[in-house]
Amino acid sequence: MTNQLLKGKRGIIFGALDENSIAWKTAERVFEEGGKFTLSNAPIALRMGKINDLAAKCKTEVIPADATSEQDLTNLYTKSMEVLGGKLDFVLHSIGMSPNVRKDKGYGDLNYDWFQKTLDISGLSFHKVLQTAEKLDAMNEWGSILALSYIAAQRTFPDYSDMAQAKALLESIARSYGYRYGKLKKVRVNTISQSPTKTTAGAGITGFDVFYDYAQMMSPLGNATAEDCANYIILMFSDYSRMVTMQNLMHDGGFSSTGITEDLIGRLTK
Ligand SMILES: NC(=O)c1ccc[n+]([C@@H]2O[C@H](COP(=O)([O-])OP(=O)(O)OC[C@H]3O[C@@H](n4cnc5c(N)ncnc54)[C@H](O)[C@@H]3O)[C@@H](O)[C@H]2O)c1
Repeated sequence: MTNQLLKGKRGIIFGALDENSIAWKTAERVFEEGGKFTLSNAPIALRMGKINDLAAKCKTEVIPADATSEQDLTNLYTKSMEVLGGKLDFVLHSIGMSPNVRKDKGYGDLNYDWFQKTLDISGLSFHKVLQTAEKLDAMNEWGSILALSYIAAQRTFPDYSDMAQAKALLESIARSYGYRYGKLKKVRVNTISQSPTKTTAGAGITGFDVFYDYAQMMSPLGNATAEDCANYIILMFSDYSRMVTMQNLMHDGGFSSTGITEDLIGRLTK
């Protein structure tokens, strides 16, 4: 299914670690749809991951950037505009990490230095991505900037821990910056709230398999896959969604509007 929906558009895709990453699937689809982009990830992830294989496949370059560093982001935007030959039309922030989750710290025993890191990497970095773009005047009018969120921003999922606060921050930044960037340059800013997805970040959450299965049972369409998410991102980068901004868009097979399902009743009936 390719319609060249992104022909002539340029952008940056953050967060492709391996073939399972939502950003990886997105890069493959953006390439198929005719978009040109650079790939970026934190320097440490570049050493561990296989992003160079993806870059070769998509005929592009990898430019390292720690998304918490304004200096790295300035370098990334400047180089991306040089490599791609002009200002940008889309940016995907597909970044998340919590040291507390990674090291299995309970919610009543959080390490606050790590909590700050979670907020910085998974939430505040989105503001830095937006503010750096604005300062460098890196975006074309009607450009589209997206970040990926999770429903734990609105409802409690105990093992999601401090990532829930990071996602609430992320969604709030999309509204505040979406207003500002819309007024300034008609740039659109949204978050996509994605189903549980089997990736490195997803599988890092304790009990992930259980809440993956639970969401599957609670969604009339089932869980949205990383490929489904990539397709939705294509739509959001395209001109077909040009009046959508400041939204948290549920991409979850219906999970967020479902109270209970026959599947679950069947499972719980004694
Ligand atoms: N997997 C899920 O169940 C799920 C559900 C909803 C939302 N999301 C969100 O989707 C996004 C992508 O995650 P994924 O599931 O594809 O997992 P992933 O592990 O493949 O991607 C996370 C990426 O964040 C990058 N990253 C971490 N720290 C960074 C830093 N300081 N600077 C730059 N990059 C950094 C990692 O290197 C990695 O590439 C995240 O925001 C995640 O929270 C995931």
